[in-house]
Amino acid sequence: MTLAHLTAPDIAAMASQPRALLINSLPGYKSAMLVGTSDAEGQTNLAIVSSHFHLGSSPPLLAMILRPSTGNSERHTLRNLLETRCWTLNGFSLDHAAPAHQTSAAYPKDQSEFDACGFEAEWLAEFNAPFIKGSPLQVGCLLREHHPLEINGTHMIIGEVQHLHYPETAQRSDGGLSLSDMGLVAVAGLDTYTQPEGGVRFAAADTASSPRQL
Ligand SMILES: Cc1cc2nc3c(=O)[nH]c(=O)nc-3n(C[C@H](O)[C@H](O)[C@H](O)COP(=O)(O)O)c2cc1C
Repeated sequence: MTLAHLTAPDIAAMASQPRALLINSLPGYKSAMLVGTSDAEGQTNLAIVSSHFHLGSSPPLLAMILRPSTGNSERHTLRNLLETRCWTLNGFSLDHAAPAHQTSAAYPKDQSEFDACGFEAEWLAEFNAPFIKGSPLQVGCLLREHHPLEINGTHMIIGEVQHLHYPETAQRSDGGLSLSDMGLVAVAGLDTYTQPEGGVRFAAADTASSPRQL
């Protein structure tokens, strides 16, 4: 196998589109979730985001990185969640990959991706962000911290989980969720959706014993 070797100047010299696709591939398989928001007037928005990460469990914190608005494109998710201080995360399965991907198109603010891409909004009382009806994993988050990142102008958004919906049958006796039972997709780069199998599970590792498969 011949290995490619790129240095920082090689990467800097690439055209922006192939560089974006290359660098987006580097974090490996990521969670793909649809982020539902609304503005203060109730205009809904839905966008696919793959930069989610777990920040802590007590309190339950999830974070994501959102790109900033630029001169010719306004980021509605960012604007809405700073306005209402809440958003939803909605998992989806492979049969919804096409409409989920379509939410990444730059629709104008007055056109909701719920309608444009064929998703139905579902609301909870007292929570100002829409869930996707029928999504196998629905998470409602409240804004706890917002950090504009100096290095490239992106925004780190930290939310505390307020609402959680998932099929009871997907929860294992240890508390964890079987994402494969729920049929959730992962995404590679910006264009490849995949539905992982159950994989192999291990008990918590310690230095005194060998890995124990569950
Ligand atoms: C697979 C995939 C993953 C993406 N992940 C992110 C992300 O983590 N952060 C982000 O700001 N945009 C991400 N995007 C781009 C947004 O989906 C896109 O900019 C969208 O138009 C934003 O919509 P909005 O303006 O309604 O918020 C991703 C796009 C794709 C296709």
